[in-house]
This record gives sequence, C-alpha cells and structure tokens, in this order.
Amino acid sequence: MDKNFDENKKTAYDFEKHWNNAYQKSPITNLGWYEENPTPSIELIKSCDLPKNALIFNAGAGATTLIAQLLAEGYVNIVVNDIASSALTELESNLQQPKNAQIQYIVDDLTNPSELLKLKNVDLWHDRAVLHFFTEENQQKVYFDLLKKVLKPKGFVILAEFNLEGAKKCSGLDVFNYNEEMLQERLGSNFEMLKSFNYTYTQPSGNTREYVYTLFQRKSA
Ligand SMILES: C[S@@+](CC[C@H](N)C(=O)[O-])C[C@H]1O[C@@H](n2cnc3c(N)ncnc32)[C@H](O)[C@@H]1O
Repeated sequence: MDKNFDENKKTAYDFEKHWNNAYQKSPITNLGWYEENPTPSIELIKSCDLPKNALIFNAGAGATTLIAQLLAEGYVNIVVNDIASSALTELESNLQQPKNAQIQYIVDDLTNPSELLKLKNVDLWHDRAVLHFFTEENQQKVYFDLLKKVLKPKGFVILAEFNLEGAKKCSGLDVFNYNEEMLQERLGSNFEMLKSFNYTYTQPSGNTREYVYTLFQRKSA
C-alpha cells in the first residue's frame, strides 16, 4: 500500500492508485484474493443454465482466473471491469481468447461509473470481493443502482463478499461485511435468492478468509 495513503481522506484517485499499485508490485499468484480455481463462482454460474452467448459481466474482475475458466466452459460474451487498468492488462495478457469469443475490457469506477452506464442487457452480474470495499452508503447505492440499470429481467446476480464473521480489512482497506439478508435487502424484493452459502477461502499465504456466496435472480424489469 502507498506510504502516503490515508484511509480517512481517500479519493477515487487514491483508490485507483492503490489498486494499480497492488497489481504492479506482486505477481497475481501472491495476491491475497488469488484463486487458482474459482470453483464456487463457476459452479454457481453453471447452475444458472445460461446459453453460452449470454452476456456475463464481471465487476472488479482484477486479473481473475474466472475469465479463462468461463472461456474454457464455452462462454463467449464477457465484459470485464476494474478501476485498475494494470489489473485488466494483466488479465488480458494471461488469456488465450478463442476466435469466437468477445471480451470487452472497461476501466471504470463502480462507485462513480461513466463508461459502465452504457452497458445493457447483462444476463449475469458476478462480483467476488469487490462490493465489500464500498464502505460508504452512497458508494453502495451507486453500485446497486448500476446493477439494476444494466441487468436484464430474469438476469442473475452473484455476490461473494466477506461475511459477518469475516475479515474487517483487505489489501489494507476497511471492508463492509455482509450476510445473505443484507444482500437481499440491498437488491430488494424484485430479486429472488436462489442459493446462499458460507465459504472459507484459503489465501496463497495459507491464511483463511470467510465469504458469503449468494445467487439471485431478478423477477422482472
Ligand atoms: C480483492 S480484489 C478481487 C478481484 C477479483 N474479483 C477476484 O475475485 O480475483 C478487488 C478488486 O476490485 C477492484 N476495485 C476496487 N474498487 C473498485 C471500483 N470502485 N470500481 C471497480 N473496481 C474496483 C480492485 O482493483 C480489485 O481488482
């Protein structure tokens, strides 16, 4: 983390710098959120039974291995986003993109979106370990407003965040912990919870982090 990074006076620019720095200073396999096999996410995604050309949006994707897994599963229409351009550059350099697949890379801030506002008809919104960094009410509101704007009727949402027993910080930043009821409340009654489970993730260091994984489906527009 930056020596001069003061969490109490953070700006969007500080966050962008913070995350770019995180991806530049160490190999992705050492990051405290690296997954060799993003099994819980891929299993939830497969359970949605979407067509392979469904539009999958990965919010705050970083350099996740999930995209390679999705391509291996035959999904061909993927949008990845992150606030850190270095993360998406790393992600792209690690991918072998099949000719029939389309991947769109969007560097943008989920809590102050511009390019992301152009998205539409998303079939599946996937977020692992991103929403929990938005500790301010206004950041959370903007995030959920964006989700509801871009997601199709009957679209799916996967949110995987630190649970109430989980860590209070990650990457040196404060986090906002969730349980399934809190996520349901933020989405509202027009979203049906299809699955939810707690999951212990083991970091490359061997330490563990407690997550809640949730899968929702939108009922209508
Ligand atoms: C803990 S990492 C998780 C990365 C990825 N989802 C995964 O599971 O490997 C959090 C990610 O959220 C991104 N991020 C943080 N704040 C963001 C924001 N406001 N808008 C978009 N991405 C953001 C970071 O750059 C980082 O890649």
